[in-house]
Amino acid sequence: MDTPCWLLLLLFGAFAIFRNGQAQDQLEFISLDCGLPVSEPSSYIESVTGLRFSSDAEFIQTGNSSKIQANMEDDYLKPYTRLRYFPDERRNCYSLSVDKDRKYLIRAGFIYGNYDGLNSNPIFDLHLGPNLWATIDLQKFVNGTIEEILHTPTSNSLQVCLVKTGKTTPLISALELRPLGNNNSYHTESGSLNLLVRMYLNKTDGFLRYPDDVYDRRWRNYFLTEWTQISTTLEVSNDNNYDPPKKALETAATPSNASAPLTISWTPDNRSDQYYVYSHFAEIQDLQTNGTREFDLLWDGVVVTESFIPAKLVIDTVYNGSPETCQEGKCRYQLKKTSRSTLPPLLNALEIYTVIQFPQLETNENDVKFISVVAVKNIKAAYGLTRIRWQGDPCVPKQYAWDGLNCSNTDISTPPRITSLNLSSSGLTGTIAAAIQNLTQLEKLDLSNNTLTGVVPEFLAQMKSLVIINLSGNDLNGPLPQALHRNGLELLVQGNPGLCLSGSCTENSKKKFPVVIVASVASVAIIVAVLVLIFVLNKKKPSTVEALQSPQSTPTVHNTYDNISEPSIETKKRRFTYSEVMKMTNNFQRVVGEGGFGVVCHGTLNGSKQVAVKVLSQSSGQGYKHFKAEVDLLLRVHHTNLVSLVGYCDEGDHLALIYEFLPNGDLRQHLSGKRDGSFINWGNRLRIALEAALGLEYLHSGCTPPIVHRDIKTTNILLDEQLKAKLADFGLSRSFPVGGESHISTVVAGTPGYLDPEYYRTSRLGEKSDVYSFGIVLLEMITNQLVIDQSREKSHITQWVMFELNRGDITKIMDPNLHEDYESPSVWRALELAMWCVNSSSVNRPNMSQVASELKECLVSENSRGNMGKGMDSQRSAEVSLSFDTKMFPTAR
Ligand SMILES: *[C@@H]1O[C@H](CO)[C@@H](O)[C@H](O)[C@H]1NC(C)=O
Ligand SMILES: *[C@@H]1O[C@H](CO)[C@@H](O)[C@H](O)[C@H]1NC(C)=O
Ligand SMILES: *[C@@H]1O[C@H](CO)[C@@H](O)[C@H](O)[C@H]1NC(C)=O
Ligand SMILES: *[C@@H]1O[C@H](CO)[C@@H](O)[C@H](O)[C@H]1NC(C)=O
Ligand SMILES: *[C@@H]1O[C@H](CO)[C@@H](O)[C@H](O)[C@H]1NC(C)=O
Ligand SMILES: *[C@@H]1O[C@H](CO)[C@@H](O)[C@H](O)[C@H]1NC(C)=O
Ligand SMILES: *[C@@H]1O[C@H](CO)[C@@H](O)[C@H](O)[C@H]1NC(C)=O
Ligand SMILES: *[C@@H]1O[C@H](CO)[C@@H](O)[C@H](O)[C@H]1NC(C)=O
Ligand SMILES: *[C@@H]1O[C@H](CO)[C@@H](O)[C@H](O)[C@H]1NC(C)=O
Repeated sequence: MDTPCWLLLLLFGAFAIFRNGQAQDQLEFISLDCGLPVSEPSSYIESVTGLRFSSDAEFIQTGNSSKIQANMEDDYLKPYTRLRYFPDERRNCYSLSVDKDRKYLIRAGFIYGNYDGLNSNPIFDLHLGPNLWATIDLQKFVNGTIEEILHTPTSNSLQVCLVKTGKTTPLISALELRPLGNNNSYHTESGSLNLLVRMYLNKTDGFLRYPDDVYDRRWRNYFLTEWTQISTTLEVSNDNNYDPPKKALETAATPSNASAPLTISWTPDNRSDQYYVYSHFAEIQDLQTNGTREFDLLWDGVVVTESFIPAKLVIDTVYNGSPETCQEGKCRYQLKKTSRSTLPPLLNALEIYTVIQFPQLETNENDVKFISVVAVKNIKAAYGLTRIRWQGDPCVPKQYAWDGLNCSNTDISTPPRITSLNLSSSGLTGTIAAAIQNLTQLEKLDLSNNTLTGVVPEFLAQMKSLVIINLSGNDLNGPLPQALHRNGLELLVQGNPGLCLSGSCTENSKKKFPVVIVASVASVAIIVAVLVLIFVLNKKKPSTVEALQSPQSTPTVHNTYDNISEPSIETKKRRFTYSEVMKMTNNFQRVVGEGGFGVVCHGTLNGSKQVAVKVLSQSSGQGYKHFKAEVDLLLRVHHTNLVSLVGYCDEGDHLALIYEFLPNGDLRQHLSGKRDGSFINWGNRLRIALEAALGLEYLHSGCTPPIVHRDIKTTNILLDEQLKAKLADFGLSRSFPVGGESHISTVVAGTPGYLDPEYYRTSRLGEKSDVYSFGIVLLEMITNQLVIDQSREKSHITQWVMFELNRGDITKIMDPNLHEDYESPSVWRALELAMWCVNSSSVNRPNMSQVASELKECLVSENSRGNMGKGMDSQRSAEVSLSFDTKMFPTAR
């Protein structure tokens, strides 16, 4: 046995960690009731903890929902009455987003409950990422079992997988994730901690968890007949890095025979199990002046901590710094009074964990990110769920590796890399994503037989490991980059009618010329494709490009291109000279606004179409170098809830963007009544919020690469004639400093008040930063308050809303201009959603798809009220606000 190293952790006020009360913590919890259908209310407040449990549907693609047998429903509380079972795939994975390097409590519950009427309790494996976490044996635990570990994820995504190992069908009832508050607890030399037991010593049967335990650890009472219980009515400080519930510390056990040791013993499942034991002590008796309580801690009869004296009404946590094993098939942990002690030892609470190793490293994070973000999303869009095997880690364990790819086969302590990717016939659309460069070890890439468009990107040539690229059978166009003609690279491109197969096709477009591509490497057996392209050009009529493939000829393809040399004809049409811009705007005569980047002028295009011309200010100097690239990107972004970019000008110093013109101003003006003195009603506000959310969702999920708006605010939500919302000013922020209303040059990103608080820590803005800003916009729409108002007691709108909610004065929150003409449920739901969005931690915010679907439901609920009798309506409202008051309030969390 290793030299035991038991540490004494004495913690006092100085180490106290500031915490915003318990309300803040719960927002970071993930609580899934597996199998809860999304059609029913997709979430509910669990009665014991007051925590909101929601459906697991969005975290997993596979499996079916069911319920335990009806006569057993009384035996189990929610979330254990529902379950998800997995009849089809061998491995089924939940994918949860987490903070890398943060410690989490992960808990999974499994109840069979004869849901299928077969009385056949299943046995299967539970994996965490690519590693085995536990075998779930429901034949042994017929009444169900719960697995729990303390684990620090090594990436921002956590995969919890159920793996079929025999004939029976895996299932899961509940999945819970609780981030711990700090990193300074539950240290291990290596591996994670698998919970064996967590108990407080009290005779009365009971359970403690959230809200008594801020991290929602589950504590069970435990007591032996040879012990005597002592207790206190005074407050015991639980303030150290472990924060066990105060109630767990209020009682303790002492051996009834004062000279006998207090002994806890158990039989290990496996002799090689390694243990960490955390004992929580506090003196809860009033000792006489002559009284002393002092004891030794023994492991397997050997003293590991000497002469310990518990502090009065203050917690001490004692644990072993390196793991312990047990001798002779029995584990024994003892507290024994020292000779000078006048009182027996005491123990308030105890946690015992075994070490669990996760040796197989996950696949390289960038590889996974590419494959799961780019590829899976596209394939899903095209085919729904056909590739359901694409779950969990793409490469490991090997037997569950995704089809369509191969990985480097190194040892478990090296993250696997993707070496070949076959996405042939996968319904891929759009351009070849630049993110594919992240697969730096890729040797074979097969994208054939899809409908990919755009040019063959130059960056493929920089991917040094690539040996074979198959792009045949797509709609690629433009010239082939010269750099791709490198030795050792086999390139297959036949069947792309728009592709110009020579670098020289920019000139002599009137000449006929044959182009030959020999895509061959001597050592590999390959198809040699010889393509002859004949261009016939006629400037007046739509011209024809004929692609003849010989000698194994393919059908002649007709296409309409003016000049194949330009990478994008669209782009050309949208580029305007400075003089055209001046003409369009009548010399910048009518200024209609002033935004983050410069003034906005009204203009007319082709004598009829109204446009808004944003003249980019000269002062913001740096960043212009990416202008063209970004504009090219934005020109391809089209969505009904995004202000569309019509064209641009980049002549010398003159940069301008030409947008569609929206005559109805921005949302801020409408909220403040500045537009026409009338105010938008609640139903229309919800609709506008939904439309803006859809636009933003499109930027995040519909664009490759995703576009982060970075400056969501009410003045960037414009309204058309029908008051339809369109987001403005997206996508430019990456190369332009954003100023907003303030012209302070030090403002580097976003607009004060709307800016994600995490930005101050990470200096990064991501999709979830937009979600934060969107939450602020929602609060503005609900309250019509200024985002920052120094004259309010709580200057920031989120603080103000929290404050007012806490005071219970709901009507004070709502925009008085609404004259209470709204349905409470939809208002509350919107308010809850807004508070969810502005969670200080980005992982706990919803994504825009969730936001959009919540808003949709709000809108449905609001619109449905027209169909109801007035009396019923008010009754319903009363009911709902009552339950909100007690439980569902955002602040109550
Ligand atoms: C499980 O769900 C899938 C689709 O979600 C369905 O096709 C299948 O029939 C379901 N199986 C059972 C046993 O209900
Ligand atoms: C399962 O629950 C029943 C009823 O509560 C009980 O009698 C039985 O002992 C339990 N079985 C196990 C293995 O815990
Ligand atoms: C925990 O430590 C990691 C790495 O040291 C750090 O990135 C993370 O922010 C820390 N988390 C907390 C809650 O302190
Ligand atoms: C501990 O025991 C006391 C008395 O035995 C009881 O009043 C108290 O509620 C118990 N505490 C918990 C958390 O069960
Ligand atoms: C009390 O414990 C001591 C030490 O283990 C033992 O010698 C003694 O017999 C015990 N007394 C009773 C009454 O059990
Ligand atoms: C005990 O643990 C060791 C190492 O973790 C493992 O190799 C062995 O299979 C386990 N034995 C049993 C019976 O589970
Ligand atoms: C402490 O002293 C008091 C008298 O001062 C005595 O009654 C009591 O028994 C002593 N307690 C112990 C544990 O020695
Ligand atoms: C590609 O890798 C870089 C870091 O190397 C990362 O920042 C970026 O998000 C990755 N892109 C994708 C789509 O995986
Ligand atoms: C191309 O894809 C279509 C459907 O996506 C499929 O029917 C066809 O067989 C594929 N052709 C080849 C050559 O793979």
